[in-house]
Amino acid sequence: MTNTFHAIFDASVKKPIELSERYASLTDVSGAENQQQTNDVFTEKWDKYAATDELEKFYAFQRDWYLKLYGFDSEAALATHLGKCRIIVDAGCGLGYKAAWFARLAPGAVVVGIDYSGAAKQASELFGELDNLFFLQGDIAKTPFKDGAVDYVSCDQVIMHTESPEATFAELSRITASAGQFACYFYAKKALPRELLDDYFRMHCKEVTSEQLWEMSEQLTELGKRLSELTVNIDVPEIPLLGIKGGEMDIQRFVYWNFLKCFWNEELGKDTSIVTNFDWYSPSNARRFSEDEVRRIVADNGMKAATFHSEEAAYSGRFAHSTVPD
Ligand SMILES: C[S@@+](CC[C@H](N)C(=O)[O-])C[C@H]1O[C@@H](n2cnc3c(N)ncnc32)[C@H](O)[C@@H]1O
Repeated sequence: MTNTFHAIFDASVKKPIELSERYASLTDVSGAENQQQTNDVFTEKWDKYAATDELEKFYAFQRDWYLKLYGFDSEAALATHLGKCRIIVDAGCGLGYKAAWFARLAPGAVVVGIDYSGAAKQASELFGELDNLFFLQGDIAKTPFKDGAVDYVSCDQVIMHTESPEATFAELSRITASAGQFACYFYAKKALPRELLDDYFRMHCKEVTSEQLWEMSEQLTELGKRLSELTVNIDVPEIPLLGIKGGEMDIQRFVYWNFLKCFWNEELGKDTSIVTNFDWYSPSNARRFSEDEVRRIVADNGMKAATFHSEEAAYSGRFAHSTVPD
């Protein structure tokens, strides 16, 4: 089987890629300052997070959320979909746990995880036992794949961190097969005070040391925890001009959605909460989108939504060049 997997991989790329243990580094640095800063902080995030004992809980939470984001009724439904694929790409795979999940669910397909950070190499070491799983370190806005070579492209929680999300979407749409699907997630725009603070902070995060960013992430986590522990609900009046939604909500959620990301989740644990806050405030590339903007990007690439999901934090869906059955 191993030779078959290599043959499928070789046939999907424009130029031969020399692999070492199913891993290759395509580029080392990005010419764009913001992208390079984004890569550096993600390398650091994954390095630190790989050592926590909260990983398995986080992975389980992410797998459940993935099914919801992309309209799969169950893991079995995802397995059925992936089982029809010859080649699957996990674009922006981080530590590779979703790529590994896909590779286990579709043992006959080749799965390629790509990440611009050092996590791609770590992923290839963590999941080396799966012989249908390949990893590349490189830019998902410039992939090595031929037009239409990939049956399922997954770009989960990544596109807004790339230098130009529009160009990245176009590239991932280019490699999606005519009868394939491209699953993509976009951060949603939030209330005006939160957007203004997020944008302001992002302009300055390059001037802050990574120690300071970790320290701030811990402080934000502590704030989220203390607000949650109040267990106070408030009945918020709707303030449409500021994008503040009305209704009964917990005080931590009210601050979180409208003013400041101070993530805290007791069940996922402290390390995961700190990393989630770091993940938000440290990368200089982190665009947010309105639903109209997402739908325009999809349409500009001649794609249609096979599924579309929206929630407070994000828009996500599976997009296709043609309307294809699930
Ligand atoms: C929030 S993490 C999500 C990781 C993974 N998809 C998951 O769901 O856990 C974003 C990832 O996107 C990667 N990334 C950002 N820009 C990229 C680019 N231009 N090319 C490849 N990966 C990129 C980062 O290195 C980081 O690992």
